[in-house]
Amino acid sequence: MLIAGLILAGIIFLLIHFLRSDDTGDSSIPYAKCASYPIVGHLFSFLRDRRKLFLECSKQYGDCFRIRMFNQYFTMILSHTDWTNVVRNSAFQFSATDFAVQIFDISRVFHGRSDYDADTHRLYIQHLKNREGLRPIVTQFVRQMRELIKNDKTILEKNGNTSEWISSGLLEFSHHMLYQPSTVALIGDTNPLDAEDDFRLFDTKFHYFLIPFPRWMASLLLSREFQARSRLNEFWPKTLDPPGSSQFHRDRLEMFSNHSQWMPDKDKAALQTAFFWASLGNTIPAVFWSLFYILRDPKAISTITEEINTHLPAVPLDGDEDWTPEQLDACVYLESAINETIRLVGTIFMTRKCIRDAQLILQDGRTVQFKEGENLAWFAGASHYSEKFFVKPNEFHFDRFLNKKADSVPGFMPFGGGKSICPGRFFAKFEIKACLAMLLRYMEYQIQDTQTIPTQMKARIGFGIAPPTKDIPIIYRYKS
Ligand SMILES: *[C@@H]1O[C@H](CO)[C@@H](O)[C@H](O)[C@H]1NC(C)=O
Ligand SMILES: *[C@@H]1O[C@H](CO)[C@@H](O)[C@H](O)[C@H]1NC(C)=O
Repeated sequence: MLIAGLILAGIIFLLIHFLRSDDTGDSSIPYAKCASYPIVGHLFSFLRDRRKLFLECSKQYGDCFRIRMFNQYFTMILSHTDWTNVVRNSAFQFSATDFAVQIFDISRVFHGRSDYDADTHRLYIQHLKNREGLRPIVTQFVRQMRELIKNDKTILEKNGNTSEWISSGLLEFSHHMLYQPSTVALIGDTNPLDAEDDFRLFDTKFHYFLIPFPRWMASLLLSREFQARSRLNEFWPKTLDPPGSSQFHRDRLEMFSNHSQWMPDKDKAALQTAFFWASLGNTIPAVFWSLFYILRDPKAISTITEEINTHLPAVPLDGDEDWTPEQLDACVYLESAINETIRLVGTIFMTRKCIRDAQLILQDGRTVQFKEGENLAWFAGASHYSEKFFVKPNEFHFDRFLNKKADSVPGFMPFGGGKSICPGRFFAKFEIKACLAMLLRYMEYQIQDTQTIPTQMKARIGFGIAPPTKDIPIIYRYKS
């Protein structure tokens, strides 16, 4: 229904606005004819299954070709080396403002505020990109998670069935284990459960906010999602300084108030929603996929469990000994398994806009001219699934990344690159790792069907880590 509506709306939209085409791209780069339709170009193919679109076109046209959505052209630069040159070139910029405006309803006042950008950057360096900054957040997350597991277990003990198997969905289970501990560790005890339904609704439909429809049409088609987003934006001001919030969060609020002269309260709330979503939207599916791939691989599960038992102290659920980032670092097989999972499921679609005329020399010797305003894009799947970079790329090898620094593995770029590389990647990795370690330390699992690999939600591929199309049943119980 919604899809039909969107398609209809899209057709009306293009008839009104977009009968004019403005192809100014370098004519030496071929236009990919595969999966392109009159007027809309590759839009529907992109919305339907972008992994298929890019992998098919690259078979036919190589690493560099153009696609079109309505009259918007994108030059696809699929070679990892070429794209690295793009993200290093200041002529090609990621327009974070456009993105934030569309998804989180953040206003354009941020555009070009280099003072704000510098302060944000400083906060990220201080809290998210170095170990001492991360330590209190990671420690607090582990405590919160232990608290949650303990409370869940207490309920079972009351019924006298602590050792029984409990049924759940793996995605639901991953959500439950991360949602509250992560939010409390970062933002403080804001009663996150009160925002849970709105988070779920916003998160499931997140990608719809990116469809390039005019605002009035989006608010018509996505009224429930817009309402959920508004409620989330209204949620934060209710508890501005919740107990137990991280220093990172408090510094962020202080930084916002330092910029109060020009920054509307509405935007501060929207930035909170963005931060909240960013802390969960990809980590929940990452825990789902990692746990799925580890549990279905007997060698992985035995190696990783042994490693966890060796390096992470067996703190009783009501104990108060902390797990440190150093102890988590020692779990190198777990680290590798997480990177390997992210390689398979974290195939992002990255874009850049050319802000002044520029040229790019490709690895194959071609020189491509770009004019101001043109779009460039890259799809991580092209290298994550390439035999050039990874042996048997479609298989999960839990030790593939063993003792390798993920940031420097050629062909592996799940968090973006250059200046706009995801600033939360170290925290996200620690959180995923700590979560999996807790889950494997205190509980055991059975997946009913380990043969079938769930399909990823196609519409979400490209925007971080796509969740599965449907949850898979598992049973779990507490280790005695
Ligand atoms: C535990 O026992 C309670 C009451 O006897 C029952 O309702 C519940 O379903 C049991 N839970 C599990 C996981 O077996
Ligand atoms: C806020 O401004 C004060 C005064 O200039 C400064 O000392 C402080 O570091 C700023 N806080 C943040 C988080 O940027």
